[in-house]
Amino acid sequence: MTRLLHLSDVHFGAVDHRLVQPLLDLAHKLQPDVTVISGDLTQRAQPDQFAAARAFIDQLPGPVLSVPGNHDAPLWNLPVRLAAPFARYRHAIGRELEPLVSLPGAVLQGINTANPLVWKAGHLTDASAGRLDTAFARAPTQAMRIAVMHHAPVPASDGTPADLAAPAAALAALARAGTDIVLSGHTHMPHAGFAETAAGVLFLQVGTAISTRLKTRTNDFALIELGSGSVTRHDWLSHGGGPFLPSAPQRFLKTADGWRRLAES
Ligand SMILES: [Fe+2]
Repeated sequence: MTRLLHLSDVHFGAVDHRLVQPLLDLAHKLQPDVTVISGDLTQRAQPDQFAAARAFIDQLPGPVLSVPGNHDAPLWNLPVRLAAPFARYRHAIGRELEPLVSLPGAVLQGINTANPLVWKAGHLTDASAGRLDTAFARAPTQAMRIAVMHHAPVPASDGTPADLAAPAAALAALARAGTDIVLSGHTHMPHAGFAETAAGVLFLQVGTAISTRLKTRTNDFALIELGSGSVTRHDWLSHGGGPFLPSAPQRFLKTADGWRRLAES
């Protein structure tokens, strides 16, 4: 059974350091086949923040697939932001901004939705949509096709928009590519749900795994087990002193008509 560990918005530079080692310990205990970080590795794209993010990644169970978020391009250094916005990310984290990971039963395509020309909103470019088309067309028939992108085209659970430009077009592109699951962050709020115009796509968002930039009362991440369609959120109460505790798994089933949410087990 393929297991994905989904982390997001770790924001080195604004980390609650109490959470780091417990998260690393739990990550190893959960034995994922891949660990996903869906953007915002840093708070302000500073070299020391990227170095800390790199050290964190090196302690996670591999392989690790990460994509940039809007915080991973320098905000105030305009020459760097405009000329080479992801140079620091590439140097510390990896040259490939849109990495591909193939596993038994799953193909994961990273997509860079961070747009350095705007403050924090994202975009799904034609080039990125084409990359999804290609990766998923080449994937084995039975493989789950998973897109990893910082900004999602659906709102968070409280209605907060995920700030992706032209969300209707993005939804159409994801559906056309045959996407089964989208893993995202950005809103710092967990969410699992669907979009009417893309019935075949399950949208899974997690909050911030370890940063102090909370939008809810907890830090969280998720373990996704593709074989059973289960998504298990792990939460750390911000004032509770830990540990990360699992919630009852949510379960999803993909049919010919799209995804269905199953009763909690
Ligand atoms: Fe963030």
